[in-house]
Amino acid sequence: MDDLLRLARTMMVRAHAPYSRFHVGAAVRDEDGGVHGGCNVENVAYPQGWCAEASAIAALVGAGKKRIIECVVVGPGPEPITPCGGCRQKLREFASDDLRIHLCGPDGLHRTVTLGQLLPLSFGPHGLGRS
Ligand code: THU
Repeated sequence: MDDLLRLARTMMVRAHAPYSRFHVGAAVRDEDGGVHGGCNVENVAYPQGWCAEASAIAALVGAGKKRIIECVVVGPGPEPITPCGGCRQKLREFASDDLRIHLCGPDGLHRTVTLGQLLPLSFGPHGLGRS
């Protein structure tokens, strides 16, 4: 968790968030132990921006990985930041219900939740019944 939080914090500093001024960093661990980070990237055409979790997932996939086994999200606090609905579904593509998501603020870990808690009865990759 420490290495993920360190990477997520680095990403948070690099966020492009001139409109909300709400910097977010995320980091995910793949099934081989590799870590991948990302930050939110906003756009003057507001709906075109994307979240830190989406950036981290893109980095994971770009590195040739397809499985997330741990995740950290860090925001400016004081309230713990939780992934938005869209990002919960994006995480579900590469993780199962028992994925641990560490919700962090400037002073460290607020709490750890599972993806199943955040996205109950989810529609996952097996939902199409093809595999
Ligand atoms: N944001 C994230 O990057 N991740 C989240 O889990 C929630 C929100 C970003 C999107 C936007 O750039 C800013 O935070 C304010 O909503």
